Amino acid sequence: MVTTLDDAKRTAIATKLADMKAIQNLIISNEQRLISACDDSEISGRLQEMLNDDQKNLGILETAIVQYGVQSEPSDIVSRMLDKIEEMMSGSELSMYEKVFQHELLKHQQVMTGLLIHKAAQQVGADVEAAIGPLNTVNFENRAHQEQLKGVLESLGVRELTGQEADQGLWARVQDAVAAMSGVAGSVLTQSSDKSDMNIQDIIRMDHQKVRTLFMQIEQSNDPQKIQEYFGQLYKDLSVHAEAEEQVVYPAVRPFYGEEDTQELYDEQAQMKTLLEQIKSSDPSSSQFKDTVQQLKDIVLDHVRQEENTMFAAIRNNCSSEQSEKMATDFKAAKDRLQKEMAAS
Ligand SMILES: [Fe+2]
Ligand SMILES: [Fe+2]
Repeated sequence: MVTTLDDAKRTAIATKLADMKAIQNLIISNEQRLISACDDSEISGRLQEMLNDDQKNLGILETAIVQYGVQSEPSDIVSRMLDKIEEMMSGSELSMYEKVFQHELLKHQQVMTGLLIHKAAQQVGADVEAAIGPLNTVNFENRAHQEQLKGVLESLGVRELTGQEADQGLWARVQDAVAAMSGVAGSVLTQSSDKSDMNIQDIIRMDHQKVRTLFMQIEQSNDPQKIQEYFGQLYKDLSVHAEAEEQVVYPAVRPFYGEEDTQELYDEQAQMKTLLEQIKSSDPSSSQFKDTVQQLKDIVLDHVRQEENTMFAAIRNNCSSEQSEKMATDFKAAKDRLQKEMAAS
């Protein structure tokens, strides 16, 4: 039985993630424009802090997309809408108040898209929830930004309408609103405050964890359709992870990890690929399917142990933290490229 490994729900979530990245890019360029057009130091200071968060959050979003493992383009309608907003934001027709108002609407759209992805992930599977976990920080910060933007709107609006300053208590009220939210979501924030400078060990470990989750999901399911969906994701994740390791990590560690041990990693991955193809062409409701998955799991977990124990130790002992972070960036870029190729084929 030849099967397709694509799953409509997972692709739909991938499109929403791509929408979110496109929105985030426009949010950043809006803020840059607003800051340079603003002559109020209180407001431009607040926008600058927001911009710093948003640039960091773009990095978190990109990591989550690669970790999710299915790539997509943004939807047509969102792309067209963003073009329109960009045109309004760069033109001279709107007042400053009206521009910030458009920006706040865009933040709202980003908050809702993020929450929707979070809720959808809970329905689709534990592996999806794990992959997009870091987005919780982005969602929370966007909510806090909305409160800040309401304050900016009040300040600008009162000035445009009356020529006078808004009520003195304005920024204190904004701070209260943000603090009230932090009380609820503070734990989320500290958990994943900055994912932008992860080293290669962190990023490989995250992939391994997701693969363990997928094996568990397959084991625990008796529904051939769900099994097929989980295997489809496992196939993509393992193929991309292994290829990215062979392109970026193994050549880099070979000189200090040793010829023999490195070769062993390549050989194990070759075995793994053969089994993946074998499973791909078998029937998910057959007992042979689960038996071969079990065989694959044994090989993969052995391989993972070797990487996490001896290879990680070799990296720790031979690479500076800069080198390891650089490897992480290259590894993520390789995965991103491979996932896009996979989506296109
Ligand atoms: Fe590997
Ligand atoms: Fe690995």
